[in-house]
Amino acid sequence: MRGDDQLHESKNHTKAFYADVVEGLSKSQKTLPCRWLYDQQGSELFEQITDLPEYYPTRTEISIFQNHLPDMAKAVGTSAHVMEFGAGAGTKTRLLLDALNQPKSYVAIDISADFLASSMARLATDYPSVEVIPVVADFMNADGLSTTALPPGNRLAFFPGSTIGNLLDSEIETFLGAVRSTLGLTGKFLIGFDLVKSEDILVPAYDDAAGVTAAFNLNLLSRINRELDGGFDLDCFSHEARWNEHDGRIEMHLVSTKNQTVAVNGDRFDFRMNETIHTENSRKFRLDGFAELAARAGWSIKQTWTDEKGYFAVSLME
Ligand code: AVI
Repeated sequence: MRGDDQLHESKNHTKAFYADVVEGLSKSQKTLPCRWLYDQQGSELFEQITDLPEYYPTRTEISIFQNHLPDMAKAVGTSAHVMEFGAGAGTKTRLLLDALNQPKSYVAIDISADFLASSMARLATDYPSVEVIPVVADFMNADGLSTTALPPGNRLAFFPGSTIGNLLDSEIETFLGAVRSTLGLTGKFLIGFDLVKSEDILVPAYDDAAGVTAAFNLNLLSRINRELDGGFDLDCFSHEARWNEHDGRIEMHLVSTKNQTVAVNGDRFDFRMNETIHTENSRKFRLDGFAELAARAGWSIKQTWTDEKGYFAVSLME
């Protein structure tokens, strides 16, 4: 029996995961889409990453919000309908809702129904004057976005965290274009993105001394073992973070430490010693480069706020 037949009763998501694993591990540069990094364990490890001393993006972006939110709120205007990609409801969402002048509604789009329901319920209790609307959809997919209705009026998209940097440039353009169609011509977009800086800062942020990012990356192989009957020996792969100067991005790879063959649900994949699986891109932008990318999707930057060191940026686009 072929491997995919054995999975006929599994959920769609397991099938999609399996299809991505077979496709990605069959390429000459083996690759796995980074969205599979975030199962329960992966999401918990990512939360830990955001507190690491080496991982500057989260606390830098929060400091930008703390220093400039009154300015941002002024530029956004009153009675905003806010739409966030990914179930925020965390520190940044609350900082924004606290700073805005009489926000009317908050729409959060996330693929995970359970997570969305619990975080939105808490938010609705804490912000009784804001209409809280959860939408279960894949916001990285233009079809998912087009089904999302936002009340008419002062519409604001919110996408902090430089999650945009985990997309390829072509995907960024498609995503920004889809957001623009969803919001309409008068919509605004508050977006956080990470900036190019010294390799000495960038690489440790993705290869921390405590090994949390390594555990986050290797969890992808554990997940394949758990969900797809994979046979990865985690002692035979190591985590690597590389700065790719040409493409302006940190790449995460899993390096095979020996020649080996690994079975996943009956399919066999050969690895040479030092061969890698490319698991994530994290794009670092220059301000002018980001403005150009945004312009290709019809957005123009109205204002940008950064931290003192120029590590991270938050832009308001219209
Ligand atoms: C979610 N995303 C913005 C993180 C980043 O920095 O690209 C994911 C991450 N990967 C390793 N560390 C953090």
